[in-house]
Amino acid sequence: MNENLKDKYNRTYKYLRVSVTDRCNFRCKYCVPTHDFEFIPHGKILKYEDILFAVESLSQLGIEKIRLTGGEPLVRKNISYLISEIGKIKNIKETTLTTNGSLLSKYVNEIYDAGIRRINISLDSLREDRYEYITGGFKLNEILDGINKAIKTGLNPIKINVVAIKTFNDDEILDFCNFAGENNLNVRFIEFMPIGNNVEWKKEHIITGDEILKIISKKFTYEPVKKGNFEGPAVNYRLSNGAKIGIITPISNHFCSECDKLRLTADGKLRPCLLSDNEINLFDEIKSRDFAGFKEKIKESLKLKELDHNITNDGCTAKFKRTMSKIGG
Ligand code: GTP
Ligand code: 5AD
Ligand code: SF4
Repeated sequence: MNENLKDKYNRTYKYLRVSVTDRCNFRCKYCVPTHDFEFIPHGKILKYEDILFAVESLSQLGIEKIRLTGGEPLVRKNISYLISEIGKIKNIKETTLTTNGSLLSKYVNEIYDAGIRRINISLDSLREDRYEYITGGFKLNEILDGINKAIKTGLNPIKINVVAIKTFNDDEILDFCNFAGENNLNVRFIEFMPIGNNVEWKKEHIITGDEILKIISKKFTYEPVKKGNFEGPAVNYRLSNGAKIGIITPISNHFCSECDKLRLTADGKLRPCLLSDNEINLFDEIKSRDFAGFKEKIKESLKLKELDHNITNDGCTAKFKRTMSKIGG
C-alpha cells in the first residue's frame, strides 16, 4: 500500500473529491448564498489538464477513488472528457459524481460512455412546491425524468441525497422510504450541517440519524447492510419494503476517525476537512506541474488536519469562509 498520504492520526487517504466548478444552475437555499456572493474568476479555475495533473499526482501518492462535485459538475463544459481521461489514470479504480440531477436527461448517456457507473443525486423533497422553493425554482418532474433516464442507462447504484431539515422535509421521511423501495434507489438522509450560505443554520433544524430511524421504524422493520467497496460515510439499512436507506451523521455521530477523504477546490486548494477552513494553495504547483513541490505541500496540509470537528446537536460556533457551493460537499 502507498503510505504517502497518511496523517498524524494514522488515517490513510484514498478518496479525492474534486470540485470542478463553483457554478451551479440551482440556488438551493442552504447552499448558494443569497447576497454578497462572487464566483471564482475564470482565470483562477483549474483547467482540465491541471485537474488531470493533480489527480495523476495524487494517485501516485495513494488516491484511488475520485468523486466529481461542484457547484454542479454537469454545468462544466465537456465534463465527459475529464471523466474519460481520469479513467485512464493507472491507479484510479473508480470515478463517480454527485449532481443535482437537472442535466442528467441531457448528459447521462455521455457520462456513462465516459466511464461513470454510479452516481449520487441531491433531492430534498418529493413535493413540487417544496422542491421549487428549496432549489430556487426548479421543476421536480425534470429531476425525476433525469433519475429515470439514469436508471434506464444502467447506472447502479443510484443514491439519492436528502438533506434532512426539521420544519422543511421531516414529514417526508416515510415518503422517501417508499420512493426508494418502488424505484430501487438508495436514499440517504444527511444531517444538516452548518456550512452553506449566509442563511442562519439553527440547531433546531437538525434531525439526527436516531430520530430518522425512529420515524422509519413506525412503518418498517430494518436490518443493517454491510458497506460495499469504495462507499463513503453512510450507514445503510434494508427496510421491510426492500428499500436501501442510508444515514449520514456528521453531527450526531462523527465519522472523522475513519476519514479517508481529501478535497480539491476548483481554484486549486486542498481542503483536507470539509468542516475546517484550513486549506493549502496548490495552484502554482499545479500550474507549473511541480510534482515535488505539490507532494511537499500536501504533506504539510495533512499535518494541519485535525482528528475531529466540534459541531454537535448542541450547536456550532464555527463560521466557515467557504460556502458548500465552493466545496462540493
Ligand atoms: P459514496 O461514495 O457514494 O458513499 O458517496 P459520499 O456519501 O461520500 O458522497 P456524497 O457526495 O453523496 O455525500 C453525501 C453527503 O455526505 C454530503 O452531504 C456530504 O457533504 C456528506 N459527506 C460526505 N463526506 C463527508 C465527510 O467526509 N465529512 C462530512 N462532514 N460530511 C461528508
Ligand atoms: N448539510 C448537509 N448536506 C449538505 N449538502 C449541501 N449542503 C449541505 C449541508 N449544509 C449536500 C447536498 C449534496 C451533497 C454533496 O451535499 O445536498 O447532496
Ligand atoms: Fe473527514 Fe472532516 Fe468530514 Fe470529519 S468532518 S469526516 S475529518 S472531512
